[in-house]
Formats: sequence, C-alpha cells, structure tokens
Amino acid sequence: MVDSVFRTRSLGTPAEGVKDQYADGKAAKVWEVFIGDKKQRTQNYRDFLVGLLRRKGCRRILDVACGTGVDSVMLLEEGFEVVSVDASDKMLKHALKSRWDRRKEPAFDNWVIEEANWLTLSSDISQLVGEGFDAVICLGNSFAHMPDSFGDQREQRQALANFERCVKPGGLLLIDHRNYDYIIRTGQTPSKCIYYNSQHMTDIKTSVLYVSGKPRIVTLDYMIALDEENKDNPEYVSEFRLSYYPHRLTVFRDMLTEAFSHAAKHTIYGDFKPLNQVEDPGFYIHVLEKQH
Ligand SMILES: C[S@@+](CC[C@H](N)C(=O)[O-])C[C@H]1O[C@@H](n2cnc3c(N)ncnc32)[C@H](O)[C@@H]1O
Repeated sequence: MVDSVFRTRSLGTPAEGVKDQYADGKAAKVWEVFIGDKKQRTQNYRDFLVGLLRRKGCRRILDVACGTGVDSVMLLEEGFEVVSVDASDKMLKHALKSRWDRRKEPAFDNWVIEEANWLTLSSDISQLVGEGFDAVICLGNSFAHMPDSFGDQREQRQALANFERCVKPGGLLLIDHRNYDYIIRTGQTPSKCIYYNSQHMTDIKTSVLYVSGKPRIVTLDYMIALDEENKDNPEYVSEFRLSYYPHRLTVFRDMLTEAFSHAAKHTIYGDFKPLNQVEDPGFYIHVLEKQH
C-alpha cells in the first residue's frame, strides 16, 4: 500500500489520514520564501490566468488549493471576487494573515477563506456554492498532492467530481500538474518554475517510487537558499520534501473527461502555450468549460 511508503521529511507529521504534508508548518513557512513576495508571480502566469478569466467573463472564483493565498491575492488585486479553501490550517494561517493585514481594502474584507478537503468539498462549502462559481482553480501542482491510496485513483476521481459540482454551467475548471511523463522518463525535474520568479530555489532532488512496476509516487526535495549571499552554506539552505502522484497526461485528461462529460470543451496548455508550441513543458494546464 502506498500508505506504508509515504514519508514526510519532518518527524511528527502524520503519514496517515488526511495527508497534510504542510502540517509541521515547515514547508508553509519556507513556501513563502520560495515563492518570494506575492508580487513575484511571473507576468506570463498573471497574463494567462487573468486574461483567460476576463475573456470568459468570470467574476466569482473558487481557489480550491489556496495554500498561503498567493493566487487568491493576485486575483483579488485584479478585481475578482474570491473564495479560497485549503485542507492545511498551517498554510491557511498565512492567507488569513494577509486578509487581516489588508482588511481595510473592500476586496480583502469580502475575501472568504475556509478550511475544506477536496474529498468532501461540495458539502464542506455547500452554503457558498449556490449556482456554482464562474471558475474553479486548482493550480501550482496542487492536485498531485492527492495520493492514490486504493490503487484505482478513486479518491482523485471523487475530488474532480466535487470540483465539477462547484463550477456553474458554462463555467471553467483550471487545473495543472507537472510534466510527470518527463519526470518518469528522465528521473529529473526542471527547476525552472513558470509560476514564481523565485530567487531562492537552488535544486530539486527527484525520486520516483515504483509499486508493482508502476510509478506511484514522485518525491521532490526542494533546496531553498534562505540567504542569497550564503547559498552555498548548508546552514542557510532549507530543505523540504513533498510527495506527489505522478499524473500521466493522457490518463489525467481522460479522468477530467469522465468528470465533465465528453461535451465539455477541454484545452491543454504546456507552460501556458498551445501544446504544439512547446517541447517538454514543465507544467500542463488543463482548462475545462462545463456544458451549459
Ligand atoms: C503546492 S500548494 C499550492 C498552493 C498555491 N496554489 C500556490 O501555487 O502557491 C498545494 C496546496 O494544496 C493543498 N491540498 C493538498 N491536498 C488537499 C486536499 N485533499 N484538500 C484541500 N487542499 C489540499 C495543500 O494543503 C497545499 O496548501
């Protein structure tokens, strides 16, 4: 069973039950250093996300993996109405602090932040779903955090079905994952990140765990230099480990089709570009338009 091999780096973080890999607070704290200040979102990413949401007339957005709130803050600043959820209270703590610090701005005063799990999402926030959101976003390689505990991807399907329930007819789901086909093929993860202008990333060590001949877990050890001037001194390098389910592009595409039906329009981008314009992208971004 995958449970028996799932390990976090820090002692005391549970490897059973809801797998909050951020529970020791270490990754949550270093995450803020890793992504830099919240203005460090790459322009490409901002243009892609905000451009797409505006073109499709979206106003009310549900961020289902808000983490420390970095995407949500960007969207609030761009004038969207945002509901943000996450399963990790350690991550949410940072989002709640941003809301508090900027509570005098109406957009932040109206920002709704809740703890919720994808497996129970539509009931966790049923009072907020109404007719559905104009768009649901699950970005930053977040969905791959969900392991395949039963070996048949049933929990991942359940989570996708819950996302679909939160999208209004005609609305969008934006969901991404790293290029695990490339990672499995080469055993390496490109350290360039399309999402952050991080000055602090020094390396990503990649491990691929096979169970019964199939790649089941990819573990990434992120090396983050906390002090630029001392980046070669191990005392100033923080390391955190996150484990992911390695979604293959075609399998993930088919799971999304199953959750949304064949009639939904499904476009896949590689590093925000049409797939035929990019070889070996670092990330795949799926955009689904739910049928009216
Ligand atoms: C990599 S962080 C990304 C946060 C943010 N979107 C970003 O790009 O910085 C992934 C987030 O997904 C959340 N997450 C993982 N599994 C979850 C689940 N089952 N339900 C809700 N949130 C979950 C984690 O707690 C974490 O905050």
